[in-house]
Amino acid sequence: MIQKIAIFASGSGSNAENIAQYFKGSDQVSIALIVCDNPKAFVLERAKKLNIPTVIINPLQLKDTDYMQSILNEYEIDFIVLAGFLKLIPTHLVKAYPDKIINIHPALLPKYGGKGMYGHHVHEAVVEAKEQETGITVHFVNEHYDEGQIIFQAKCQVSPKDTPDDVADKIHELEMEHFPKVIEDLI
Ligand code: GRF
Repeated sequence: MIQKIAIFASGSGSNAENIAQYFKGSDQVSIALIVCDNPKAFVLERAKKLNIPTVIINPLQLKDTDYMQSILNEYEIDFIVLAGFLKLIPTHLVKAYPDKIINIHPALLPKYGGKGMYGHHVHEAVVEAKEQETGITVHFVNEHYDEGQIIFQAKCQVSPKDTPDDVADKIHELEMEHFPKVIEDLI
């Protein structure tokens, strides 16, 4: 049976778009919904072009079990992918989708994870610490930021002259290459 994915995103949505393109025409995986907590996020433009339905939620709705269940049931969602979603996933969702919610983090967890460690903050911390390598981590989601079981990591080198923007570019490349395949393998 086709597995229906909801992607949760808060920002640009380059991962969401890449995943949607990867599974276009697939008879096994369908990106059925994009859930977004920011009405101004560019991911909503991308979703429109990709013809993927979107739902915009506020923090109270995210915490509301019945509300979230009604949306996810309506779209018959089997699996949730967090791609740049900044809010903490509430316990009720973790319980409703055991081992069926994954997140991508732009560093080699357990390093550079936790509340406030997202986007540029991560790359700045990596450069500041003079790391020689960084990478991406795909992990299951539990009630704590960036702490669920690790599923996949890929690394890249950080050179002494790399700026946070350079690191961001390298991470972006890794995400584009690996994230859809990790989802495919898992499903
Ligand atoms: C990615 O770097 C992802 O690892 C992180 O947030 C960023 C989202 O970028 N969690 P985009 O919205 O997919 O372009």
